[in-house]
Order: sequence, then C-alpha cells, then structure tokens
Amino acid sequence: MNCFSCLKSPLLLVGFASFAFALDQGTKLPEAPVVRQGRTVAAIETPGFNVAVDRSVNQLTMVDQASPRLTFVNLAAAQGGPDLQQDKSAKPVTDLRSLKEAVGDRFKIGVGVGHQVLKQPEDAVLIRQHFQILTPENCMKPQSIHPKENQWNFEASDQFTEFARANKLDVVGHCLVWAKDDRTDEWMKQENDQPVSRETLLHRIESHIETVVGRYGDVVTMWDVVNEALADTGENLLRDSVYSRATGIDFIVTAFKTARAKDPDALLIYNDYNDHKPEKREKLIRLLTELREKGAPVDAYGMQGHFELGENEIPQLRQTFDELRKLKIKVVVSELDIDVVTRGRWWADNGSHREELAKFDPYKDGLPKEIQQKQIEQYVELFKLFDEYPDLIVRISFWNLHDGQSWLNYFPWNRVNYPLLFDRDRKPKPAFDAVYETLRSARSSGAKAVP
Ligand code: GLA
Repeated sequence: MNCFSCLKSPLLLVGFASFAFALDQGTKLPEAPVVRQGRTVAAIETPGFNVAVDRSVNQLTMVDQASPRLTFVNLAAAQGGPDLQQDKSAKPVTDLRSLKEAVGDRFKIGVGVGHQVLKQPEDAVLIRQHFQILTPENCMKPQSIHPKENQWNFEASDQFTEFARANKLDVVGHCLVWAKDDRTDEWMKQENDQPVSRETLLHRIESHIETVVGRYGDVVTMWDVVNEALADTGENLLRDSVYSRATGIDFIVTAFKTARAKDPDALLIYNDYNDHKPEKREKLIRLLTELREKGAPVDAYGMQGHFELGENEIPQLRQTFDELRKLKIKVVVSELDIDVVTRGRWWADNGSHREELAKFDPYKDGLPKEIQQKQIEQYVELFKLFDEYPDLIVRISFWNLHDGQSWLNYFPWNRVNYPLLFDRDRKPKPAFDAVYETLRSARSSGAKAVP
C-alpha cells in the first residue's frame, strides 16, 4: 500500500494501489482508451486527473487537470522494490513542456549524462520528459570500460544501458576510440616495453570494438567510433598520438569497418570539436574524403558544439554544414552547451593567464540578466540554423542535464557556470523557453511540429 504514498489524493491512492496490485498479479489491465498509440497501453478515468499507464516502461503518469502537474511513478519501484525511497523523493514535475515533443520527428534530441545521474529520481524524470537518446558521459570510454587488456569494467555501462532499455531510450555509444595519448591507457600504447606495433594496435582496436559493440549493440543506435583525431593546428592532418604514429589514418578505417561489421544498422560517427573553424574544417573535409576513399563507413560527423558565449559561429557552421551536405555526410550535434565564463584564454599565450583565471569566478552569486540574454540569443540562433538543415541533422544532444552538473563548472578551472537549459534546481531557464519556442515554430518545410 505504501507504494503510492507519493500521490496526494486518498481516492487515487486506493485506485492506484489496486491498479499496481493488478499489474503485480499479472491481471488484465482495466478496459480503457488507448491514449498514446504504441507506447501507452491504458488510461484510467479518474475524476480530476488524467492517468496513463505505460506498461512498456512500467511507468504510471498522472496529470492533475486543475493545476497541471505531471507525476511519473515507476511501478516496479512503487511495488516495494529497493528504489521506493528514491521515487518517493522525486518532486512532481510542474512544467508539462517537453523538448522531444517540440522537436517532433525532425531529429532526435538527447543528453549526455553520467551513469550516477540516472539513479537520481528527479534527473530521471527530467530525462524521460525531454529526451529520446542518452550518451554515457564517461563510463563507456576506453579507459573506463577497458583499463587493462584482459580487464573490463562493465558495471557502470551495464547500469546505464539497463536504464535506457527500461525507459525505451536509445543510447549513443561514446566512444570506441579516443585518439589522444592522454586518454589512452599504457597497455594500449605499449608492447613488450616498446611502442606498440601497427599490427598489434589495429588488432587491439578491433577486439575492443567487437566486445563493446557486441555487448551494447541492441540499445545503441549511434556510435561515436572515433573521437578527436584531428590536429588542432599545424600542417599535420591528425594529432600526434600512438594511433597516428603507428598506423597513420588506418586506425580510423579499421575502427569504422569493425563497428559496421558488428552493428550494421547503427549510425557511425566521427566526433570532434572546433571543426567549423576554417583551418580545422579543411582538415575535417580532407579526413572524411580520405576515409571514404579507403572504404571506411562514416555516416555522420559529430559536431561536439561546446560553444563559448559571444562566439560568432553561425557563418562558419553554415559553411561546414554545406560542405558536409555535398559529401553526403550527416551531422549530429553531439555535446551542445554554451560556456558563459569563457575558457579560450586558458590556452592562450602559452598558458600565462592561468594563475589569474584560476581565481576568476564572476557569477558565483548569479548570472546577470544581460549575460543570460546573450546566451539566449546565441542558443536561438543556433537552433534556427539547425532548422535550416533538416535533411542533414539527425540528432542534437546537450552535454549534461542541468547547470549544476556541467563539466564547465570544473574545466579548465573551478567556476560557477550556466551553460545549459535547466538551472541547478532542474527548472527550465529562460534559455529553455526560447529554444522550446524556436523548436515549436520550426520553419523548415519538412518539420512536423507537435501542435
Ligand atoms: C569531449 C569528450 C566528452 C567529454 C567532454 C568534456 O568533448 O568527447 O566525452 O569528455 O570532452 O566533458
């Protein structure tokens, strides 16, 4: 009985409790209209409330008609499982707007989060309300999941993918190869105390990919196959790393071919940052062209999209998208956020500003209105641009769920940052309102906005 104590009305309590009991016993659900074809299996007529049960994700949703509130109850947890405390602590959602409904079927909308986030009931509610596809922030990266040649840490990725399966969400497998030395363990780089040979490295890449893709291919619909291989500056196409030193471009070819062989239906992505800037854009196009020539099945370019406030990126992005369209390479916006305590200076002038920046925390008491407004405008411009490319863009994912969880509070120095659409209390910010309205008033001809 206590399973529904998070619900307010005693009348409902009884109804829901017996309903949960019915589910528990495997009894037939009450006869009721189907409210959302395909997913929601039953609706219960209860005075004052709309109640829907989505048996596919074992979830009950209630909307108070008088003052619309949305409450999700996980039925498995509500039936007395160990998650009961967690679900009880989740506050009802008071804002019924949903990014995924505003997006309609134009593209997938997603978010990158840590596996721990999925255990927070209030985060889980927000995720279910707004997003269709999740990227594991860290747990599936090579150093996390495969710390030694014969040692695997599957636990966190298993939990992550379990949450996705249970909630009928897709997953982006992130990432199979991270082409940087500081993101690669020693065991991958060495062989008999020498730098690893080309043959061994390619073999290790194949075997890593076969294992990860084999384990999670059922729920992963897009793979970040290779992350950050391009050189930021200089003449070289690829950054200096064990991968480029040992194999040139071939590690990327092998990675994509192996991923395709193991998961023929998934979208295979090359993921990187700053490729809208002219110097790196030229390299990106060269890389993708060479990969195509070598038979690497690259379906999409993952534009991380870690922007900084005031960056005038729109014309450069437009040019990048136009060139990718010519190459018939799709685009995913894979890690979107807008840093308001901008970080570029950290790397400028040989790092000579770092001591000063390390103490720079200008918005610890709140974000001034004018800065907030600038961020809103930048978000709106971005989403208007994305809307110009409905044939090209297949997914837009934010990087982290709310301001308090963003990596930009810690990288490259500690500061209070505000890069996302939800604030530290998980409330939609004015930037959310603006993006939501932009999505709803989609101009693209193919767009199907939800009324
Ligand atoms: C890159 C990586 C991500 C993440 C961010 C910072 O963009 O692709 O996995 O590590 O940096 O959080």
